[in-house]
Amino acid sequence: MTLPRLTEMKEAGEPIVMVTAYDYPSARVAEGAGVDLVLVGDTAAMVVLGYPGTEPVSMDEMVMLGKAVRRGVKTPLMVGDMPMGSYEASNELAVESAQRLVKETGCEVVKLEAGGTSVERARAIVRSGIPVMGHVGLTPQTATALGGYKTQGKTAEGAIKLYEEALALQSVGCFAIVFEAVPAAITETIVAKLDVPTIGIGAGPATAGQVLVFHDLLGITTGRAPKFVKRYAEVHDAMLAGVGQYVAEVRSRHFPEPDHVYSVEPAELAELRRYLDQESLSSPKAWDWEPLP
Ligand code: KIV
Repeated sequence: MTLPRLTEMKEAGEPIVMVTAYDYPSARVAEGAGVDLVLVGDTAAMVVLGYPGTEPVSMDEMVMLGKAVRRGVKTPLMVGDMPMGSYEASNELAVESAQRLVKETGCEVVKLEAGGTSVERARAIVRSGIPVMGHVGLTPQTATALGGYKTQGKTAEGAIKLYEEALALQSVGCFAIVFEAVPAAITETIVAKLDVPTIGIGAGPATAGQVLVFHDLLGITTGRAPKFVKRYAEVHDAMLAGVGQYVAEVRSRHFPEPDHVYSVEPAELAELRRYLDQESLSSPKAWDWEPLP
């Protein structure tokens, strides 16, 4: 996958598919399923690392996860998400962090969330030669300032702000923009005014592509999911049933079965037993000896 190909897909009306991945197995699944873009998202904070939000995840953690994803994907474009605190303070910090993500994880492009200084930071990263994906609407790193995990752009004023942010990100060279949790009609109206491909999550069908969080779409996460999540499998339940059966079979001595054990030549076993019988009659064991003073 290349950036010109993404633009081509948008222009041809060919839907772009993005999914998150955070480790080697999820990357292999994304590769096998034929997605176009894999995002090593900072949602890893919640769905993989168990933090309550995306804010605590560090650059070191994102790098470790990204390296694992890189080993598992070849075909899709790999997007590295810039964690909170890795780009806001200055253009120098933003470029340094983007370069670290690219150099250490092997991602081809980076993503950062809109708000505050992001347009300036995106411009600096693009100028340094690293392609940037923007992210507007519900931006979880700054969710508190947005009033919580809420749909964005519901008022004309909010929608205009969102449009202006998207336009600014496009004007500084972002190659694509994620729209998160935006009413479908607002998205449709705004994306018609943009040239770059847009990728929606909870933003309706008008974006050039869609993205979902791997653990949400497969039902690995449990509990209440956002309205926009469609579950395509119930993997948590399948995992719980599998591990539950293993626990029961170990406790009832039904596992391991003959198929799961290694065999040995009877003569070798007999010799071991002969040796152990003789040994128990002879010298004291090493572990019976007193330590030297
Ligand atoms: O971090 C993430 O997974 C994201 C997607 C929800 C777009 O930013």
